[in-house]
Amino acid sequence: VHLAPGVGGLPIVRVTGRAGSAEVYLHGAHVASWAPAGGAPVLWMSAGSRFTPGTAIRGGIPICFPWFGPNAADATAPAHGFARVTEWQLSGAAEVGDDVVLTFHLTDSPATRASAWPHPFEARYTVTVGATLRLELTVTNRDTVAVTVEEALHSYFAIDDIHRTTVAGLEGVPFLDKVAGATPTPGSPEPVSFTAETDRVYSGTTATTTIDDGARRIAVTKTGSDSTVVWNPWIDKAAAMADFGSQEWTGMVCVETCNVGADAITLDPGASHTMTAEFTVTPAA
Ligand code: BG6
Repeated sequence: VHLAPGVGGLPIVRVTGRAGSAEVYLHGAHVASWAPAGGAPVLWMSAGSRFTPGTAIRGGIPICFPWFGPNAADATAPAHGFARVTEWQLSGAAEVGDDVVLTFHLTDSPATRASAWPHPFEARYTVTVGATLRLELTVTNRDTVAVTVEEALHSYFAIDDIHRTTVAGLEGVPFLDKVAGATPTPGSPEPVSFTAETDRVYSGTTATTTIDDGARRIAVTKTGSDSTVVWNPWIDKAAAMADFGSQEWTGMVCVETCNVGADAITLDPGASHTMTAEFTVTPAA
């Protein structure tokens, strides 16, 4: 485990374990890359990503917290919350068998208390780097009143070609179609396939999803998460994003482990909630 300056001088933790390797920025506790030992990179990172304090990294695994998307009460607040644009603390690094377990912490500060979500809190994020990647986010309410949070492990996966990629496991699950203006849409009997901009919030699902691009399958298994978001910006939206390289959109898909919208979590004073996600890669059948 090495802590060193990464791109843009942002501190990065580099892990080379027996079973896998990863890079995690303290900025956002942002997993920028992960590969099982001897395997190909699993996460997508834009060549156009910025690596600058105050801006989000485009790719890897941003943590969205404590709100998802634009803030409902404050249009000037950062999209997807402050967690992905705030530096976290590395509080532990340990070898456990063939894995390396990193622990990060974030607590409220004058800056977060001045934000659209002014509450005292603690967040702990554990990243287990091995033949699988395991993520565990625990949030504790340190306020004297109940608080409501949204959260997402906004995972960007590298795929061969979005046109030939499917996401299985969400069959029959209703979703909000954000491209159509957050329109409630009944579940489909088929795995998700992609022919245009896709931005869907599936609610009330704890199901494992499987991304299949014809070459490999990435299974996303989760606990403590009732929403799954599936996103590909397609041509025009990708071109409109300053931090998204041209033509890169065909090589990525986001499958996000979340509690958002109707699945937002209310925590009583002192209460905690834990959400986990685990990624496993196998060759396509
Ligand atoms: C997805 C949202 O999770 O993130 C999309 O559903 C959004 O609506 C996308 O466009 C990227 O968001 P951002 O803030 O990183 O550009």
